[in-house]
Amino acid sequence: MTRIHLSDSDEAFDCAPGDTILRAALRAGVGMSYSCNVGSCGNCRFELIEGAVHHLRADPPAWTEKDRQRNRWLGCQATPDAECRVKFRRDPSAVLPPRPQARQGTLVARRKLSRDISEFDIRVDGTADFLPGQYALLQLPGVAGPRVYSMSNLPGGTLWQFQIKRVPGGAATTALFDRMTPGDGIGVDGPYGLAYLRTDAPRDMVLLAGGSGLSPMVSIARAALAAPQLAGRQVHFFFGGRGPADLEAANVLAGLDPARLQLVCAASDPGLTSGWTGETGFIHTVADRQLGDRLADCEIYFAGPPAMALAIQTGLRARGVPQAQVHFDEFY
Ligand SMILES: Cc1cc2nc3c(=O)[nH]c(=O)nc-3n(C[C@H](O)[C@H](O)[C@H](O)COP(=O)(O)OP(=O)(O)OC[C@H]3O[C@@H](n4cnc5c(N)ncnc54)[C@H](O)[C@@H]3O)c2cc1C
Ligand code: FES
Repeated sequence: MTRIHLSDSDEAFDCAPGDTILRAALRAGVGMSYSCNVGSCGNCRFELIEGAVHHLRADPPAWTEKDRQRNRWLGCQATPDAECRVKFRRDPSAVLPPRPQARQGTLVARRKLSRDISEFDIRVDGTADFLPGQYALLQLPGVAGPRVYSMSNLPGGTLWQFQIKRVPGGAATTALFDRMTPGDGIGVDGPYGLAYLRTDAPRDMVLLAGGSGLSPMVSIARAALAAPQLAGRQVHFFFGGRGPADLEAANVLAGLDPARLQLVCAASDPGLTSGWTGETGFIHTVADRQLGDRLADCEIYFAGPPAMALAIQTGLRARGVPQAQVHFDEFY
């Protein structure tokens, strides 16, 4: 264990060998801001005052030349080489009741949901303790570095379920889709993420999912419809894909209360929409068209590729949706 001291107080926490400063801080209940956990968003930057660290990922995208000059590092990638003193802006909201833990799991099943999305069931000893909408870091055999996947199920059982979209040539998804079989071991470190269901928010909910963003929105929809605090609240679920073949994955929502779940699927690629009678266009424009000014009265959750996330934020600002009602973790 390596001791990490905070520059602005007497507080310190331990970092296990190979662990990152962000993960160790959150395990110890120290609030450090973050979002993606893979070195891409830059939210977890800290200044190294004393000591030595190195990044696990050789050249994380969010680490800039200016960071190097100012001895700033990324908490989600930095692992200590010696006792350290670090400086970062504290974020108490990053510490949530299920503290993240690294455990060994076993792949037990896989179901195809669409041409390129499958749901994977991983069994881990103990209760699957997470908030709907959160994610875990999966360490897959033969893949350098963990990958981030959001849970699709409800917490409380022994399974951690993930809806995962195949990325052509991607290291982790090729391992999952082409090489791994039930019985194989997978490291599961979690839960992480701040885009979890707020059961204390007394509003209707809008969930926007694009492609690989389906999983956390499914978990949130399932939990929202089961939460007594949200009884009577509507869930507007918008799922976007390029064509009808992508949208088949929304069948996982069949069986949820149709009186409270309004599902809208939209195909965005005009070349793939022949015979499609549903909505067309990007999912944020469809939601805006259908809900308009009502968006400002809703609690909004979204997940999907960076371009979609940016377009949604711009649209919500234009509708005057308060930032406190908008929840997302950055996808990469
Ligand atoms: C918060 C969040 C939640 C996500 N949830 C889902 C989900 O529920 N379903 C889903 O299908 N996808 C999800 N993703 C995307 C997923 O994590 C992968 O990016 C995607 O599956 C491609 O992985 P790959 O290894 O196949 O592709 P690759 O092209 O090999 O890797 C792509 C991504 O992996 C990360 N990466 C690459 N090398 C390293 C390394 N050495 N160490 C750590 N990270 C590295 C980077 O983010 C990179 O963009 C999520 C991403 C984030 C950030
Ligand atoms: S770069 Fe570290 S949390 Fe995104």
